[in-house]
Amino acid sequence: MSWNERQRAMLEAMGLKLWTPVVVEAPLIESDVAVAEAPAPPAPPAPPRVVAAPARPPIAAPAPARAVAPVTAAAAVDAALAQARGVARETIARLDWPGLRDEVAACRACSLCESRKNTVFGVGNERAHWMVVGEAPGEQEDLQGEPFVGAAGKLLDSMLRAVGLSRGEGTPERQVYIANTLKCRPPRNRNPDPSELAQCEPFLQRQIELIQPRIILAMGRFAVQQLLRSQEPIGKLRGRVHRYQGVPLVVTYHPAYLLRNLPDKARAWEDLCLALKTLEESPPRDESAAPGATPSTAGTD
Ligand code: URA
Repeated sequence: MSWNERQRAMLEAMGLKLWTPVVVEAPLIESDVAVAEAPAPPAPPAPPRVVAAPARPPIAAPAPARAVAPVTAAAAVDAALAQARGVARETIARLDWPGLRDEVAACRACSLCESRKNTVFGVGNERAHWMVVGEAPGEQEDLQGEPFVGAAGKLLDSMLRAVGLSRGEGTPERQVYIANTLKCRPPRNRNPDPSELAQCEPFLQRQIELIQPRIILAMGRFAVQQLLRSQEPIGKLRGRVHRYQGVPLVVTYHPAYLLRNLPDKARAWEDLCLALKTLEESPPRDESAAPGATPSTAGTD
C-alpha cells in the first residue's frame, strides 16, 4: 500500500514510522487494563460491508423462564441482564445527563464499588459525532475519574489526533465522546466479569442514546464482544462495519494492546480509516431530534 503526504503525516502522529505489514503471533498480554486480543490473521483488506449483530432481547420484555442449561458466560450475562432489567434498566433508560451521572456515581450494583476510588463516567462532547468505547478504567483512570488518561490514553489521543479528532476541542463533528463498558476499575485490572459487564451496560447504552453518535469505535475484546453480543475475536470482527442500535460500529484493537504489539498499529490505522470512510458516507444526523427525549428502546439491530 502506498501513502500520500497527508497520510504519512497521520501515520507519524500515530507513532508509525515503518509501514511494513508484519504478522506476529502475539501472546496474550496482561496490559494495564488486562487487555487480551487475538492477533488478526493476515488477510487482504476486505471491502466495507454492513452486518447486523444478532438481535438482543427488548429491554421491557420479561425474561422467559429457562430450562436448566449449562452455565455459560452468555447465560450469566442473560441472568444479570434479566435482574438489571427488573430493577433499574428502565429507570436508567429515561435518565438525562445529570441523572445518569448521579446514578453512575452512586451505583453499588456490583462489587466493583467496594474497591473503586472514583467512578469513571465518560468525557467529551455530549453531541460528538464519534464515540469511542473502551473496556474498563485502569489505575490512573480510577484515580482521576476520567477514561483513558494513562499510557493507553496517550496513544488513543495520538490516534484520534491523526484523523483530526479530539476529546477536548472542536465542533461535534471533530470531537469524540469516550466511555467504557465498565464505569469502575476491576481490582488489580483483572478482566471484567460477565455479570459486571451486564450490570453496567444500561449506563453505556443510555450514553449512546443521549449522544446519538454517527460512528462508534469499539476498542478491545470486552467492549467489542459486549456491544456486538459476540464471542468472536477482534481479528475476525474488524475490517467491516457492524451496527449497534442502528449506529455504525467499527471494531479495533485496544490501545493498551497496541502499545505491546506495534505491528498491529497498521491494522488499527486501517480501522480508523474505515470508520472515517463510513462516517463520510453516512447520511447526516437529524440535529433537531433532541437527545434524551425518547426513552430507551434497546436492541442491537
Ligand atoms: N483502558 C480502557 O479500556 N479504558 C480506560 O479508561 C483506560 C484504559
